[in-house]
Amino acid sequence: MTDIALALAVHVVAVVLWIGGVGVVATVLMPEIGRSRPPGERFAAFHALEKRFARQSRITTLLAGASGLYMTWRLHAWSWFASVATWWMPAMALIWLIFTLMLFLIEPLFLDRWLGRRAASRPAATFQWFQRLHHVLLGLSLLTIAGAVAGLHGVDLFHW
Ligand code: HEM
Repeated sequence: MTDIALALAVHVVAVVLWIGGVGVVATVLMPEIGRSRPPGERFAAFHALEKRFARQSRITTLLAGASGLYMTWRLHAWSWFASVATWWMPAMALIWLIFTLMLFLIEPLFLDRWLGRRAASRPAATFQWFQRLHHVLLGLSLLTIAGAVAGLHGVDLFHW
C-alpha cells in the first residue's frame, strides 16, 4: 500500500502545481495583460510569460497521468471509469487528455499559428476568446478536483 500512497502524493503535488498554475494564468496573468497592453501586443506578452509555465505543465501533466494510471492499475479501479457514482474518474481522464493534447499537439502544431492569423485581424476578440477557454478549463478542473476529493472521502451525489 505504501506505493499507492506515494503515487497519490506525486499525483496531488503534480495536480496542485499544474491546475494552480492554470488558475494564476487565467485569473491573474491574462486579465492583467488584457488591462495593460494594447490588443495587438497581448499574445506576444502572453507567450513570453507563459512559455516557462507551458514547459512546467508538460512535466506535471505527465507525472499526474502516470501516477493516476499506476493507482488505477494497483487499485484494480478500471470500472470507476464506467460508473456514474465515480463520475470524477472519467472527468479526471478527460481533463488530462484535453491538456495533454493542447500542450503536446494542438498548441505547438496548430493553435499558435491559427491564433496568430486570427489575432492579426481581430486581436481583442481573439485574446478574449482565449481567456474564456482558460476560464472554462479551470472551472472544469476545479469541479473535477472537488468531485474526486469528496467522492473518495465518502460523498455519493447519487445516494444522499
Ligand atoms: C489519466 C488521468 C488520471 C487518472 C488515471 C487518475 C486516477 C486517479 C485515481 C485512481 C485516484 C484515486 C487514488 C485513491 O483511491 O487513493 C486519483 C486521485 C485524485 N486525482 Fe486523479 N487521475 C487522473 C488525472 C487527474 C486530474 C487531471 C486531476 C485534476 C483535475 C486529478 C485530481 C485528483 C485528486 C485531487 C485526487 C485525490 C483525491 C483524494 O485522495 O482526496 N486527477 N486519481
